[in-house]
Amino acid sequence: MHDDSRERSAPARLSGVRGMNDVLPDEDPLWRAFEEAVADTMRACGYRQIRTPILEQTRLFVRSIGEVTDIVEKEMYSFTDVLNGEDLTLRPENTAGVVRAVIEHNLLYDGPKRLWYAGPMFRHERPQKGRYRQFHQVGAEALGFPGPDADAEVILLCQRLWDQLGLAGISLEINSLGSAPERQTHRAALIEHFESHRSELDTDAQRRLRSNPLRILDTKNPEMAGVVESAPQLIDFLGDESRAHFERLQALLKAQNLPFRINPRLVRGLDYYNLTVFEWVAKVSGSTLTVCGGGRYDPLIEMLGGKPAPACGFAIGVERVLELMRTQGGEPTQAQCDVYVVHHGEATLEAAMQAAERVRDAGFDVILHCGGGSFKSQFRRADASGAQFALILGTDEVARGEASIKWLRAGSRDAKPASGESRQSTVALERVAQALADAIAGDAQPDS
Ligand code: HAM
Repeated sequence: MHDDSRERSAPARLSGVRGMNDVLPDEDPLWRAFEEAVADTMRACGYRQIRTPILEQTRLFVRSIGEVTDIVEKEMYSFTDVLNGEDLTLRPENTAGVVRAVIEHNLLYDGPKRLWYAGPMFRHERPQKGRYRQFHQVGAEALGFPGPDADAEVILLCQRLWDQLGLAGISLEINSLGSAPERQTHRAALIEHFESHRSELDTDAQRRLRSNPLRILDTKNPEMAGVVESAPQLIDFLGDESRAHFERLQALLKAQNLPFRINPRLVRGLDYYNLTVFEWVAKVSGSTLTVCGGGRYDPLIEMLGGKPAPACGFAIGVERVLELMRTQGGEPTQAQCDVYVVHHGEATLEAAMQAAERVRDAGFDVILHCGGGSFKSQFRRADASGAQFALILGTDEVARGEASIKWLRAGSRDAKPASGESRQSTVALERVAQALADAIAGDAQPDS
């Protein structure tokens, strides 16, 4: 048979999807530190984790986030499942999915619930620093609580997390979107205002004038700053109940010494909110970014077919918080491996594998050298692994039922060899784990 493989050109290199990042092993300690702080904080506040699918029916997001929003209009990864014709979307956020699951499994049957989630979300935005097409959120949802105590609770939960992560400089902005009738009245006033300044509106704003005038307030177009600045503010249209809710929230935050700023322009980019909305903003690599956004969404559960129940929550942009952790010096170092097992190839492999398993059983992190090679090259690998000890199984040692322990460096567990880091000792194979533990404790020498 003719072999034409040499004539073929090399296959083209594949790359990841634009705006979707790999998290490489060197970055993992930072992610892990963040995830552990999140899990601790959620537990401390009585929140339990829920995991919902990444794919949902497209109509879930259209109905909840709103048809005339950036997310639904132009940022969703939607497709028709060719196998059954279903319209599906990669979740752009997870409040809708959580509410869908809460309704589907009747989770509120025995009272309110505190839930949290973490995972990837997908939005087809223009990628830039802090803005990706696959990004990660950690979110919390307090479902079934009508009062401002729950609003305060979710906000304090965020502050607790910033504190736990040692982060400073994240400031809180709050606003109230009132109730639907109050927004209707404000909306009419807004339309009237923008109508009378039509010539100052860009095409996007003109298109939104009647469909979603509130979103015009959120414009990033500096030329519209004046017309937005002079627009009527929703806060002036709040009725007694909405005002009382907002004032009580402020009092609760003040009582906990949590500083905030009322931002009457804060409208959020999703349609399901009422009453309280909030954002945590911080300077991330020179630009001001929202690291967390949330609020109350009392109408959503009913809108998605559930028994009416109030709710509030937030979602944190994980990549943005990680960037803050990097810039504020909270980056943890790479976790070290404790022991690297060096051995003499086939003849010693079984004994080395068994020794590695025993040492792991004793709670050490162990890398067993794979693939043979000289002792010299294996020691190079041992060094590169960051291991504190090399465990050496040569042919003669294995024949005697022994192994050698060599100190490579002072380890993360504060062990210091009594007489220099180049020390090496021989121990019986069944005593290896104990000898390592003794060496680390520093209260005994490995056997000689
Ligand atoms: P959101 O404001 O759309 O709210 O997103 C929350 C956070 O996710 C943002 O503040 C930002 O930090 C991060 N984020 C959003 N888009 C991107 C992106 N393209 N790249 C990187 N990070 C991004 C929600 O998603 C609501 N579900 C929050 C919520 C929960 N409200 C009530 N409960």
